[in-house]
This record gives sequence, structure tokens and C-alpha cells, in this order.
Amino acid sequence: MLFDMEEPQDFDPYEVLVSLVVPRPIAWVSTLSEEGIANLAPFSFYNAVCDEPPVIMLSVSKREEGNRKDTARNILSLGEFVINFVSDDLIEKVKVTAQEYPPWVDEFEKAGLQKADCYKVRVPRVASARAWLECKLLRHEELFKYDLILGRVVFAGAKNLEVSELKPVGRLGEKFCKIIEINQSSQGD
Ligand SMILES: Cc1cc2nc3c(=O)[nH]c(=O)nc-3n(C[C@H](O)[C@H](O)[C@H](O)COP(=O)(O)O)c2cc1C
Repeated sequence: MLFDMEEPQDFDPYEVLVSLVVPRPIAWVSTLSEEGIANLAPFSFYNAVCDEPPVIMLSVSKREEGNRKDTARNILSLGEFVINFVSDDLIEKVKVTAQEYPPWVDEFEKAGLQKADCYKVRVPRVASARAWLECKLLRHEELFKYDLILGRVVFAGAKNLEVSELKPVGRLGEKFCKIIEINQSSQGD
């Protein structure tokens, strides 16, 4: 199969991209609005960028009508956000928070999730998440119709660092995937 990604004719470049860049981690991002309302939503155009200092990137598309999503708007106004780790027991809750709610709706409440305080940011985290990264906005760029966010990780918490305990969930194409097989022999980066 061949795809001219600059001039797509009879295919969707999004489908090609998300099928070939796999698996993608999922950032379950909590933020706080200027009015103090908590927001929570998943993003799979997400990854670590560097580790000295630790920086992550997040790409948030604009809505159809061109408006900023709540997550991007809140990050730009407060300058802080949290990435909550998605383990397999939380997939159904993640789906609830992916729905398009107005800014005054608190997705923690919609999904029946408890909040917990963070250590270095004012944003609440998902109490039941097995790990979290507290981030401060480092850089923002408007990239085509996306808000590209670079966040410096200022604090991290985890019940465990073992993949077998964290039970991470990723994105394979447009589906969720669980890590089910670990190659113990592979090392390095
Ligand atoms: C697993 C998953 C991954 C997603 N990844 C992205 C993404 O990378 N970028 C994006 O803009 N939207 C992504 N979405 C859609 C957003 O979660 C959705 O638009 C959400 O309503 C945004 O909420 P907000 O307006 O509260 O920020 C994803 C949805 C799911 C279920």
C-alpha cells in the first residue's frame, strides 16, 4: 500500500498515521479552569521528549469550529497540568472523560472518580491512578490546527515502577491495547 501523505486522494492520513505509529501511550490529563473547575480527558498524541530535565509533549487538536479544547485552554491559563497513568482497570472511566462536555462540567464527577491533591501543582489528580506526572507548561506552539504543549515534569508519583504492576494501556490505531507480553531480555534505549 502506498500513501501520498501530502496529497491524500482516497484515504484518511489520520488512519495511516495512527495505524503505523503504535502503540501510543495515553496521557489522561487533568487541568483546572480559571473558574476552578476540574477537567479530565485522554490524549494519545503524547510522549516523553527528553529526560534532563524531564519533558513531555502533548498535541491537542482544535474543535471542529476552531475552538480550543478545555484541556489546552486550561493549561495555557494556569500553566500547570497532571498526566494520570492509565491502567487497564480504568479504560471505561477514560472513555467517559473523552466525551465532549462543556467547560463547566467536571469530568471527575461524570466518571465517578475521586480527586487527590498534588505536591507541586494546584491541579487535582485521579486518586485511583497508579501513577501520575505533575507538569508545568514549558512551551506552547500553534502547529496547524493543534495546540502543541511541552510540559516540564516537576514531580512524579507511582505506586510501583513495574510494568506488570502498572498494567499500562496504550492506543493501537483507534483501539485500546493492554501490554500482555514483556521481552525480559531487551535493555537500553
Ligand atoms: C484514547 C483517546 C485518545 C485521544 N487522543 C487525543 C489526542 O491525542 N488529541 C486530541 O486532541 N484529542 C484526543 N482524544 C479526544 C479527546 O479526549 C476529546 O476531544 C475530549 O473531549 C477533550 O476534552 P476537553 O475539551 O475537556 O479537553 C482522544 C480520545 C481518546 C478516547
